[in-house]
Amino acid sequence: MEIIKVANAEEGGKKAFELIKTGMDNGAKTLGLATGSTPVTLYKEMTESDLDFSEMTSLNLDEYVGLGGNDAQSYRHFMNEQLFTKKPFKETFVPNGKAEDLAAECKHYEEIIDAHPIDIQILGIGQNGHIGFNEPGTPLDSLTHVVELTESTINANKRYFDKVEDVPTRAVSMGIGSILKGKKMILMAYGEAKADAIKGMIDGPVSVDLPASALQNHPDVVVIVDDAAASKL
Ligand code: GLP
Repeated sequence: MEIIKVANAEEGGKKAFELIKTGMDNGAKTLGLATGSTPVTLYKEMTESDLDFSEMTSLNLDEYVGLGGNDAQSYRHFMNEQLFTKKPFKETFVPNGKAEDLAAECKHYEEIIDAHPIDIQILGIGQNGHIGFNEPGTPLDSLTHVVELTESTINANKRYFDKVEDVPTRAVSMGIGSILKGKKMILMAYGEAKADAIKGMIDGPVSVDLPASALQNHPDVVVIVDDAAASKL
């Protein structure tokens, strides 16, 4: 893992953007994208750049079960707002959280991943070390699946909802195995609340107890952290 320390999220967004630009200069065509507050500064760099994404394909990590593009808290809505309406892509994929047959949707999404191999995967990290919505205990070779969210994740994400009861309890998420199929990983983390997860991911054993530790098995991982997130390394 290559670790890049930055002063703050703004500088982290610039760093990640540079890596994406270099990747695109070298032929990258498909980006794996993440939601949450962490990638917002990266998406700002992308939208304010003169880079053309109209030949690019994107695949998002996850979506809440029961929410779709018209729901303000859906990840599809978030991506449209933050990036896609400002920088058109050729094709953008987000799991369909409103699919009637969720098992079929998971299988279908994994086929999309295999048909569009991800060149650069953007990742944030949960406070409990989750990536995508792969909570502790998720097998490290898992493919796209339906996840029961943990209480800690529901609490961490309730800030986007009116009340905690409104936070969906399930999500469709790329599995850890699906994520690791990508050629290059860029994981960003800012703030003290991520320090334990970052420490475990880098220095701890590879274990289902901390899903992001699986990245130790990937040959090309860049970790962009501020001082607070790196404070326990
Ligand atoms: C959610 C998302 C993850 C994200 C995490 C951290 O659980 N599914 O992809 O990494 O939140 O979010 P934040 O960046 O807001 O801390």
